[in-house]
Order: sequence, then C-alpha cells, then structure tokens
Amino acid sequence: MGIGLIIPIACWLIPGISVAGRPISYGHQIAPLFALHCAGCHGLSNPSSNLGVTRFASLRAGGNIGGEIVPGHPEKSILIDFIEGKRGSRQRMPQNSNPLSQAQIASLREWIREGAENDHAAGPCFDLIIPRVPASSGEPIQMESRITASALVIVSVRDQLSGRDLYVDDGSVKYPREAANMAAPGEWISRGSSMLLLCRMAQR
Ligand code: HEC
Repeated sequence: MGIGLIIPIACWLIPGISVAGRPISYGHQIAPLFALHCAGCHGLSNPSSNLGVTRFASLRAGGNIGGEIVPGHPEKSILIDFIEGKRGSRQRMPQNSNPLSQAQIASLREWIREGAENDHAAGPCFDLIIPRVPASSGEPIQMESRITASALVIVSVRDQLSGRDLYVDDGSVKYPREAANMAAPGEWISRGSSMLLLCRMAQR
C-alpha cells in the first residue's frame, strides 16, 4: 500500500511574560497556555465537548455549549467559569490536572477583556517530513519521537495519493508531565496501534 507521509510538527512554546501596560498577546501568552494545559483533551482529533482550543478559529467557534468566550466580558465568558471551577470541581479545567495559576487566569481574563483577538504572533515551529513510508497490509506502523522542549506536537500520517490524513494526533510536551500530556521534555513519545487501526480501515 502506498501510504505516504508521517509529519511530526512541534511548535516550541515558551509562555511569554506579561509586560505592564502592553496588551496581552494571544500568540505569545494565551495560545501556549491552551496548548500546554488543554491539548490532551481539546486538541485536533475528537475534542472533549467538541471544543478545540489549540486553534484560534475552533476556540472562538466554541463547543457543545457555544459562546464560551464573550469578547470584552470575562465575567460572562463560561470558559473562565470552567477554569475557575465554578461549574463544580469535577468540571474544573484542566480536568484531573493541576489548576492554572492565578497569574495565568488573570492573563486569560485580561485577554478576553481586551477583546479576545488574535495578534498572529507565533513562536518557532519545526516540522519533520518523512516523504514515503513503505507499509504493507496488516503491519503496524510505529513512530517514536523525542521533543526536548515544551511544545505542542502534531503527528499525522497522510495518504500520498489522495492527500487525505489517515491519522492525526496532537498533544503537549511539558514539565511537569500530567495525565493528559504526551510526555515531558526529553521523554520518548511512541505512537502506533491506533495508527495501525486507522490505516487498516483506510485500506478497505
Ligand atoms: C483530561 C482532559 C481534559 C483537559 C486536560 C481539559 N479538559 Fe476541558 N473538558 C474535558 C471534558 C471531559 C469536558 C466535558 C465535561 C462535561 O461535560 O462534564 C470538558 C469541557 C470543557 C468546556 C465546556 C465546553 C462546552 O462547550 O461544553 C470548556 C470551556 C473546557 N473544557 C475548557 C478547558 C480548558 C480551557 C482547558 C485547559 C486549561 C481544558 N478544558 C482542559 C476534559 C478536559
């Protein structure tokens, strides 16, 4: 079978420090926060409550409830309620992980108060493209990678012929590692069995 590309993309995330008097930067301060603390459950594939927070467009499009962010009004934005645990401790986000710090929550509130806009600032992104991977029917594809800094990691397998993504997975690498993270910096990340399943399905 001619399955095509394996593309691990890693975006290095160094959460920016807020500078008094300057507006909060979505790209430098807010996007890294969502990517490091929420991507494990609200990433690209099958996000909890249909809320993806690792892309500006999906964040603003919202999830099952909808309208999680009300620009200009942090007090009306239920995203903040979930983060502060106002919906009950079981629904406090990030679920089953350490709460965000007061400083992180304050930045989020301030960003929403300032209009929740995308300033298109971005940290460095690196991608590794393996142009062709020989795969035969029923054989597992195993991929291992090691990312040495805090990052949002996107792994995808693409069918060369159709250009279709057969498998996409994303998650965060951060220290300390929590249950929803892919790994801590420097640890091996291994992906395989679910990839096999999807590739098998695609062969039918
Ligand atoms: C370990 C998994 C996990 C992590 C990490 C996580 N969430 Fe969630 N999130 C969930 C689940 C599960 C639900 C659905 C909760 C429910 O309905 O009881 C949810 C629901 C939500 C909702 C409600 C969306 C809607 O429209 O229904 C918001 C908002 C939310 N999460 C924000 C966040 C943010 C922001 C972060 C990171 C700071 C985060 N979550 C991290 C699992 C997670």
